[in-house]
Amino acid sequence: MDEYDDWDIVSGVGITALMVAAGRAIESSRDDALIEDPYAESFVTHSGITLPIPTSWAALNDSEGRSEADTRWVDFWAALVSYLGVRSRFFDEYFRDASAAGVRQVVILAAGLDTRAFRLSWPAHVELFEIDQPKVLEFKDTVLEEVGALAGCARHVVPIDLRADWPEALLRANFDPQRPTAWLAEGLLPYLPGTAAEALFAQVHRLSAAGSWFAAEESDPDIRSRMDAPAFRDVYRRLGYDMLALLPDDDRPDTTRWFHDHDWQTTAISRAQAAKRYGRTLGTVIGGVLQGTLLTARWT
Ligand SMILES: C[S@@+](CC[C@H](N)C(=O)[O-])C[C@H]1O[C@@H](n2cnc3c(N)ncnc32)[C@H](O)[C@@H]1O
Repeated sequence: MDEYDDWDIVSGVGITALMVAAGRAIESSRDDALIEDPYAESFVTHSGITLPIPTSWAALNDSEGRSEADTRWVDFWAALVSYLGVRSRFFDEYFRDASAAGVRQVVILAAGLDTRAFRLSWPAHVELFEIDQPKVLEFKDTVLEEVGALAGCARHVVPIDLRADWPEALLRANFDPQRPTAWLAEGLLPYLPGTAAEALFAQVHRLSAAGSWFAAEESDPDIRSRMDAPAFRDVYRRLGYDMLALLPDDDRPDTTRWFHDHDWQTTAISRAQAAKRYGRTLGTVIGGVLQGTLLTARWT
């Protein structure tokens, strides 16, 4: 046992995984969807959550005679979904490219309800590891089993806190540090304390054989103050959940700089640039809270 707090899918940071799954469900239902996640909606419906999390575009927009608060709510979800579509597609393509370059080992850090093991098409002999909190992964596996999902690769779950000794758990799950790996930290870094994030980067670096890839979603350094805006607080009130309380307020390392300084070849693009790549424009919803970059890096 470790000394860290834990959570399930309907508490603490776990709820953010459910919100992202809801976003992927809504994205999948759009005519211009950038991804298709056939499992996302099942997670929300099986969770029994009582918070008002929408799962379809139609349900979200179904508010005749909207008040100002309704409009803010719909705008928030519309912008979030639009961005989640972009980020999901961007990292789908990252894995496609890493696979094409011959990488056959994948580690998804803070996998939450990510279903790439099931929804992407993988080449033969891919070993994919998902790390997250035990109760989150337990819930995920129960739902996937219930809906009869079949992974397209060899999938291993590694239930552990990323502030604890996760490398040891990963190695025990048969991760091979001699093989190149494609790592992903998507939707994780805002929730990790700065020291844990730096330790995580150092461990990724240590466990990466030549030919490894790393990708991460980085938030704007001002994310905390942006999320403290009064309009954003309206959204928390309606959701019944204080997302600001989830963000540690210590100093955060600059992820791109960290990898660059450790001799990885880094490419960081703004989320807006990524959106443009897929023909989307990200609105400036609620104080620019969705600003930030998408990083890919290679270790040669
Ligand atoms: C916003 S969700 C993102 C999940 C997934 N990467 C995605 O994009 O769908 C954040 C995830 O980070 C996980 N997480 C945050 N801090 C963690 C920690 N210290 N150890 C393990 N998992 C953590 C949560 O359990 C949750 O599943």
